[in-house]
Amino acid sequence: MTDQYVMALDQGTTSTRAMLFDEQGQVVATAQKELPQIFNHPGWVEHDAMTIWNDARQLIAQVVLQANIPPYKVASIGLTNQRETTIIWDRQTGEPIAPAVVWQSKQSDKIAEHLQEKGLTSYIYERTGLWIDAYFSATKIMWLLDNVPGARERAENGELLFGTVDTWLLYKLTNGQVHATDYSNASRTMLFNIHTKEWDKDLLAEFNIPASLLPEVRDSAGIFGYTAEYAFFGLQVPIAGIAGDQQAALIGHQAFNKGDVKNTYGTGSFIVMNTGQDIARSTNGLLTTIAYSIDGQVTYALEGSVFIAGAAIQWLKDGLQLIKSAKETAQIATIAREQHIDPVYLVPAFTGLGAPYWDQNARGAMFGLTRSTTKGDLVRATLESIAYQTRDVLEAMQDDTGIEVTNLVIDGGAAANNYIHQFQADLINQPVKRPQQLETTALGAAYLAGLGVGFWSDLTKLPASNNLEVKQPITEHRNQVQKAYRGWQRAVKATRLFPLNEE
Ligand code: G3P
Repeated sequence: MTDQYVMALDQGTTSTRAMLFDEQGQVVATAQKELPQIFNHPGWVEHDAMTIWNDARQLIAQVVLQANIPPYKVASIGLTNQRETTIIWDRQTGEPIAPAVVWQSKQSDKIAEHLQEKGLTSYIYERTGLWIDAYFSATKIMWLLDNVPGARERAENGELLFGTVDTWLLYKLTNGQVHATDYSNASRTMLFNIHTKEWDKDLLAEFNIPASLLPEVRDSAGIFGYTAEYAFFGLQVPIAGIAGDQQAALIGHQAFNKGDVKNTYGTGSFIVMNTGQDIARSTNGLLTTIAYSIDGQVTYALEGSVFIAGAAIQWLKDGLQLIKSAKETAQIATIAREQHIDPVYLVPAFTGLGAPYWDQNARGAMFGLTRSTTKGDLVRATLESIAYQTRDVLEAMQDDTGIEVTNLVIDGGAAANNYIHQFQADLINQPVKRPQQLETTALGAAYLAGLGVGFWSDLTKLPASNNLEVKQPITEHRNQVQKAYRGWQRAVKATRLFPLNEE
């Protein structure tokens, strides 16, 4: 056993966190900071890229001090990140030319629509695995080049660099020595050809994006570069792993087999299925993406994104003020279920519906209200909506791949909710596994960083998954839950008949 540690830097949409793990994959220390959201225009979401960097730099030092270990005992650092978020900066000064355009941001909506109108949908899907949307980096880059004064000219002169947050942090940590990303992040840009595993020259031409902006794409595990003197206690520590956060969670679960599926219940839900070496195609609105690349071997995945999951619980608390904390919801829902068999349905289409519906005009609705409906019923409906949406995506995945989902692992904040955990198992009629340590994303980045320096020599040497708690489907619930799911499907249908902005 070594007395060394690996560090994960998890830069998410709402917070940045540094974590230290030991050889057993146990958390030794965590330091975290909220990230301010910038909402300067309706529909736009931006981050200050320098704040991201300064927070990251502070947190990686803080976590070492907190763990009270000598900094040289950090064997390597792994980066994982909110994906797609787009930063462009000056190659010489390292100064961003504009705020980071966050994945949720809508300023490039019109550009995406224009590409759709040009009939490029299947052309782009064939090459990138992605359905045209402002979500991905490509239209964000186009928007920045066209809207930041002088940006296009500077880009054409080779003065600017583009990166997702991993690339930005890597660049800063190495004092501008390394401009690179990994395959998982590259596959979210809508510029990367997932078949040839290269930036797609035809798409770059179509989008008018100079190739000189783009980072080099590398394996997810391996040494990307070393920390600059100022970045980490004067030490040169290898940055040896990178993956987008949803892919990192898959790795954190060690979901390395074809057909393994993970769901991260965060603000939204991101459900990812490992499809091995197969580039699975979707006829159900799922994305084909790269899970990771290790030892030169690219592994693919199918992904379904649900926009509202934990955010619905937040809405109960902050919007409706029905509950004081998310923690109390499992008990409230359990009691409600004992009192009323027939469920109330909440379709939380607060910002439209994501996979597998992709209906941006849908808005939230409730069904089945009666005079005896209680607060508890609404809480229960909210928790159940999270599991229903997950089943919708899993059904789409099964349909696309022909693979039956028998191994669902979960993580993220709302995975801690026992009601959701059990209901999810009942609903898909399969066991659902939950690790004790729910920071699976950071663990995945740590695994990559450890593999990248031989801290763990290969995948088989990763520590055994930490104490999985398995909920089995309860046989007595079976009929009732299946009936409820049919009710949910009717509720979604009805919701979509009542879209926003109908003339
Ligand atoms: O694709 C967006 C996703 O990576 C964001 O994840 O956890 O930072 O909200 P999170």
